[in-house]
Amino acid sequence: MRVRPMKTTDLGAAERLTARAFTWSGDDQTWSARSPAAARRWIERIDHLLAVDAAGCWVADDDAGRLAGVAASARRDLLWILSTFAVDPAGQNRGLGRALLDAAIGYGAGCLRGMICALPHPGALRRYRRAGFTLHPTMRLRGVVDRAELPVVDGVRTGTAADLDLVDSVDRQVRGATHRGDHAMLGRDGHLLVCDLFTGSGYVYVGTDTVTVLAATSRAVAQRLLWSALALIPPGNEVSVRYLTSGQEWAVDVGMAAGLGVYQDGYIALRHMRPPAPYVPSVSFG
Ligand SMILES: CC(C)(COP(=O)(O)OP(=O)(O)OC[C@H]1O[C@@H](n2cnc3c(N)ncnc32)[C@H](O)[C@@H]1OP(=O)(O)O)[C@@H](O)C(=O)NCCC(=O)NCCS
Repeated sequence: MRVRPMKTTDLGAAERLTARAFTWSGDDQTWSARSPAAARRWIERIDHLLAVDAAGCWVADDDAGRLAGVAASARRDLLWILSTFAVDPAGQNRGLGRALLDAAIGYGAGCLRGMICALPHPGALRRYRRAGFTLHPTMRLRGVVDRAELPVVDGVRTGTAADLDLVDSVDRQVRGATHRGDHAMLGRDGHLLVCDLFTGSGYVYVGTDTVTVLAATSRAVAQRLLWSALALIPPGNEVSVRYLTSGQEWAVDVGMAAGLGVYQDGYIALRHMRPPAPYVPSVSFG
């Protein structure tokens, strides 16, 4: 086995490996491929990280030279974020995950803080805890928005490139690091809404079935943004709002009022920081 920096030519094999690792059923030894559109989006996202955070992206080859594992991470200001982490099911539990994670964490040397949206996978959680991360259990809101419950919300508008300084300022206050560098990716999959009032400010990226990321300087602003985001979900689509810690009751309350259900989700794994709030993390960009 050999751990080495990821190259653009690894992306196709890395996409297939992560699909296999994330959907592997040990019982019947089967897995599900991503749809062509989802595979393309995955490759574009990691290609983006390779361009911005080349030293945070690592792969492992097995002795036959086949791709055996992947870890891709980003550094935004003094925050390190793990974006994807997988080892081929045939090679798991032999220390490869640890070697890949060590390489990716090395890119975060000098970063005070770390953030991972983690799946509830015992091997992954063991690695994160052993690397010093605190595991915060989370909830997911899911369902079809009851449009009869949508309130009239003032003060929220579509954001443009001219709003990115405001977005940066909110991100710094709420999570201590901006998403500068990721807005092209976030904007590709989502619509930017911003709210800037005397009492607080915030932003949200919303897609057709998910609230990708939301940050605000007050719970009242966060609730306005979440309601506005839910109103943009095409009627009838199932929406998902993920990785909500128990401190995010402002979101749970909006979700329940909108007719969504509360389900268990994965963990936010954090190092040297408390769960940001009011905040809905981006699964890929923290
Ligand atoms: C998470 C993952 C990348 C780890 O890779 P790996 O090569 O298996 O990792 P390692 O062998 O270095 O470490 C796994 C550890 O978990 C332990 N482990 C695995 N399954 C376990 C279980 N069911 N219960 C308890 N411990 C378990 C292993 O014993 C090992 O611990 P140790 O080395 O301290 O003894 C790999 O399991 C994977 O691809 N999982 C599916 C995708 C996924 O969930 N990725 C993480 C997304 S957040």
